[in-house]
Amino acid sequence: MEKIQSLELKNISKSFPGVKALSDVSFSAYPGKVCGIVGVNGAGKSTMMNILGGLLQPDEGGKILINGREVMIENPKAATELGIAFIQQEIQVFDTMHVYENVLAADFDKWRKGKNSLVLDRKAMKKEVQKHLDALGSNIDVDAPVYSLTVGEKQLLQIARALSEGGQILLFDEPTSSLSDNEIARLFEIINKLKAQGYIIFYISHFLDEIFSLCDNVIVLRDGKKTGDALISDIDKEKLVGMMLGHMVEGNARSGVRAQSEVVLKAEHISGVRLPKDISFELHKGEILGVWGLLGSGRSELFNAMLGIDKMMGGRIYYRENGRLEEISQKKLYPHIGYLTEGRHYDGLFLDMSIKSNITSSDIGRFASKFLGTLNTKKEAVESRSLMKQVNVKATDENMIVSKLSGGNQQKVIIAKWFLKDPDILFMDEPTKGVDIGAKAEIQNLIFEKSEKGMSFVIISSELEEIMSLCDRIIVVYEGRLVGEVSKADFSKDSLMKGIVSQEEKHAD
Ligand SMILES: Nc1ncnc2c1ncn2[C@@H]1O[C@H](COP(=O)(O)OP(=O)(O)OP(=O)(O)O)[C@@H](O)[C@H]1O
Ligand SMILES: [Mg+2]
Repeated sequence: MEKIQSLELKNISKSFPGVKALSDVSFSAYPGKVCGIVGVNGAGKSTMMNILGGLLQPDEGGKILINGREVMIENPKAATELGIAFIQQEIQVFDTMHVYENVLAADFDKWRKGKNSLVLDRKAMKKEVQKHLDALGSNIDVDAPVYSLTVGEKQLLQIARALSEGGQILLFDEPTSSLSDNEIARLFEIINKLKAQGYIIFYISHFLDEIFSLCDNVIVLRDGKKTGDALISDIDKEKLVGMMLGHMVEGNARSGVRAQSEVVLKAEHISGVRLPKDISFELHKGEILGVWGLLGSGRSELFNAMLGIDKMMGGRIYYRENGRLEEISQKKLYPHIGYLTEGRHYDGLFLDMSIKSNITSSDIGRFASKFLGTLNTKKEAVESRSLMKQVNVKATDENMIVSKLSGGNQQKVIIAKWFLKDPDILFMDEPTKGVDIGAKAEIQNLIFEKSEKGMSFVIISSELEEIMSLCDRIIVVYEGRLVGEVSKADFSKDSLMKGIVSQEEKHAD
């Protein structure tokens, strides 16, 4: 494969039924540079990358040139052959295969012991994969089954796969949205290393700090059009946000500490199979309670054990009903709660169904006729349309299939689904994952509004800024145990990390 010196995109457009995802976008990229791509949910970022990766074809009239020559990227295989590798928004791995098999999955033929042999030279395969993992500074075991890896490690596999296939143009679509701070730091190291080695790198993110620390230049998309193309050194965050939104974001922090109201939910000594260990907390009416901790600290496991997704090995739950706080079974708690889980593709959505059916799924009984058991689809349409408007889902209409929405808009559908049920208590695990900064502010405002009306929230967020601006009180979890509680007046990075740091010091002793 010849060395790629330049990549040019000229007048790229892409229409879907009812949407123009890209219109007449042109830009260029060069070796040794990281090019950021930013824009609000549905702006066309992933579509652009899907075209480069051969997953979508641009409309007539557009051209892609490599080293000045026009190329056709008819499918992902053609992209690979041209040296383009795509690390997608939703991580793509074969969960039941081994690490080394995953990395080389695209071309097993190459590793047959003889031309027509049915036997793979697994020793040589492992050696090859080890080489790439070493180069990335990773100590993942080539023999490990992939399901045992963390999200960050799975992502590293995708990078190793890209390199082993000879990728020279690397596309990263929101790579940090499920990574821990350490994993993010390591990813940045790797990207910087690849940049120094002369790779052409595209980097999509909603975290503008990442764009400023990693990229050399940035392309801004809005409604499928290019609204900005600048060197990072020539712009600041405000300017960038202006290009993305066409206006500025309004501040929305809820000020002051809220008056204490009655306790609506009490969790006592909650323990799971492995995590959590003996966690107790109280939740007040209208309160927004945050759960903070490092990745793997057992935050999601706390929700899963409490709400019966995993087995609860010990503990009791109390819920206020008819003016009294009384012990309640998980099953009896369900009508009063909602649970927005972390994995939108895994258990958050019916991907092949419409936006409407997804939104109404949280309380479908409300739309069923009592006698006939049929659905009142008109009512479904009206209510889901109104919720789509509230959370600002960008789609042609409520009948659009959810898998065709952009990542951030899929997340908004899940939020709409739980707002439709309007439960007393809403548990949310990373509610704004993949949501753009404008919509994030809108969703936070909706959470404030709901809480003013008496809905209570328990929220996990790995984003420090978000959890501090959103919550009234935060509990801190470390290795499955409760190690701290901080109230609004004392919120700071230090106060949240205090419990965690002191535990880590104990470990070190
Ligand atoms: N297969 C498809 N069929 C119909 N519409 C589609 C399809 N794929 C994307 N779209 C639409 O194209 C637009 C751009 O989507 P795209 O996924 O590129 O957005 P994005 O900038 O990546 O957003 P996000 O930040 O939410 O990931 C959206 O309106 C989306 O609904
Ligand atoms: Mg996207």
